[in-house]
Amino acid sequence: MFCTDQRFMKVAGPFINHREFQKMKKIPHHNDSVYDHVLNVAYQAYRVSYKKGWDWESTIRGALLHDFYLYQFNKKPRWSLLIDAYNHMVNHPLKAYENASKHFHLNPIEKDIIISHMFPVRVPKYKESWIVSLMDKSLAIIEYSQKFKKVVLGYEEKEESYQKAQ
Ligand SMILES: [Fe+2]
Ligand SMILES: [Fe+2]
Repeated sequence: MFCTDQRFMKVAGPFINHREFQKMKKIPHHNDSVYDHVLNVAYQAYRVSYKKGWDWESTIRGALLHDFYLYQFNKKPRWSLLIDAYNHMVNHPLKAYENASKHFHLNPIEKDIIISHMFPVRVPKYKESWIVSLMDKSLAIIEYSQKFKKVVLGYEEKEESYQKAQ
């Protein structure tokens, strides 16, 4: 993600350049990687937080780390898929917090943003946590719909090239 917003980049830069943080680039998520997803969420949540005069620096830091769970959820069809998906949904914020606290110093707002972003699993305590949870859900819908379009277009392209080959 290329961002010209200096205010945002001043806070996000040290994370973006961090070796552990970079590992999220390799983990697929929705339409892209977890890395792209957390940057999108952080930027959109920051814009609201800044406009409202909230703690926008904590908003950025918490949002960047909200999915710092660093493993790839296995979506292969299997009997336990539903249970595993449920466990992932409930537990990945705690794993993200565990990983984040190993590498970064977190304030109470940042901690709350991470552990409560899967509301209603856990209820956020701060307005900064609410906005990250809301942006996370909104962007997930956009990212999934982009993936859907890609898949549909992919089929169309295959169909077209198949027809051309006839
Ligand atoms: Fe998440
Ligand atoms: Fe997320």
